[in-house]
Amino acid sequence: MINVSKPSISITERKMLDEVLESGWIGQGQKVFTFEEECKKELQAKHFIALSSCTKSIEIALIVAGCMPGDEVILPSLTYASVIQVIIKLGLVPVFATIEKEDLNISVNGIERLITPKTRVILPLHFRGHSCRIDDVLAIAERHNLMVIEDAAHAFGSYYKGSPVGSSSHMACFSFGPLKNICCIEGGGIATNSDEIAEKILTYRNMGMARSTWHRYNNSSGQDKPWHYEVVARGDKCTQNDVGAAVGLMQLRRIEEIRQKKRKIIERYLAELPEEKGLEIPATDPQNDFAYIFTVLAGASWREPLMAYLWEKGISTAVHYYPNHLQPFFAKYNRGPLPVTEDAGKRIITLPSYTDLAESEQAYIIEEIKKFMKQV
Ligand SMILES: Cc1ncc(COP(=O)(O)O)c(C=O)c1O
Repeated sequence: MINVSKPSISITERKMLDEVLESGWIGQGQKVFTFEEECKKELQAKHFIALSSCTKSIEIALIVAGCMPGDEVILPSLTYASVIQVIIKLGLVPVFATIEKEDLNISVNGIERLITPKTRVILPLHFRGHSCRIDDVLAIAERHNLMVIEDAAHAFGSYYKGSPVGSSSHMACFSFGPLKNICCIEGGGIATNSDEIAEKILTYRNMGMARSTWHRYNNSSGQDKPWHYEVVARGDKCTQNDVGAAVGLMQLRRIEEIRQKKRKIIERYLAELPEEKGLEIPATDPQNDFAYIFTVLAGASWREPLMAYLWEKGISTAVHYYPNHLQPFFAKYNRGPLPVTEDAGKRIITLPSYTDLAESEQAYIIEEIKKFMKQV
């Protein structure tokens, strides 16, 4: 079976893992802090705080943004369900915005209509690693005094207008989950340019303690009582650990290799997939998108048959995503039709585009899609 996604773990990650496992320190420690430093450089952000997942990062970002129960968060419906779950968990209200037909990112023109006195945050997604019009989103937020929290789960290493995605808003949340371009096995993190926000996140991730265990115990003379701790604020336990960070660090040092491989795969799909009989490819920019997934829009009537056909041929595909406003558990937040989102939800297919996809495997995928399309 050709998987739809697969991590690319090289010998360098394995060696670094061995080193950490033998070091005697596998919790949050020096590897996490080095990973943070290198992420910061890659993202050209003032701060980067590594956390246990992007879901947790979004939750913390909403808390740090000062959201209170009943506050509204504007976001696209075509996104990962965990984002809606954390919004609801905090007692906030997801308000689903329309998306652009061209790239399936949040429609900037639709945002302003949704703003009410209860709106606190705009949470745009850079779907597929293709940046949304973040500068326009930020301009709206500034006009209405709102916070922007970017869901950059798909977009670590992507660029927009010459700058890394996640370098310009109040907070940008990233994922380093098992199938992302850069993985920490599981992991996430927040980039911010605000010292105040960074300080709050650092304390929060550390159960509300001012100093982490590592910072208390390492290089301590004993005079400063490393065993002493104080809880000074609200918090949670959502740290990254040195094992995950070791993998992430080595992945990050391979970023150019991974980027080039992915770029080649995306470029080949763009060049060879037939755009006919209703098959469409949402706007993709291989030079700037560090594309986490590659998606096409099939015909609504033949999306499922195509996926079943490919499955039979040993090719696994996926749906990113079934719209959240149509999910049974989120039904009460459905404020009416979102035609572009619903159309995409019926037509979208994710094709395998993982880093180590072989040329021959990709040729086979394209050939089978073409064969199927002859019968459509
Ligand atoms: C759009 C989006 N947001 C958030 C997340 C959550 O990331 P994590 O799995 O690191 O919690 C994901 C995960 O794939 C995602 O696709």
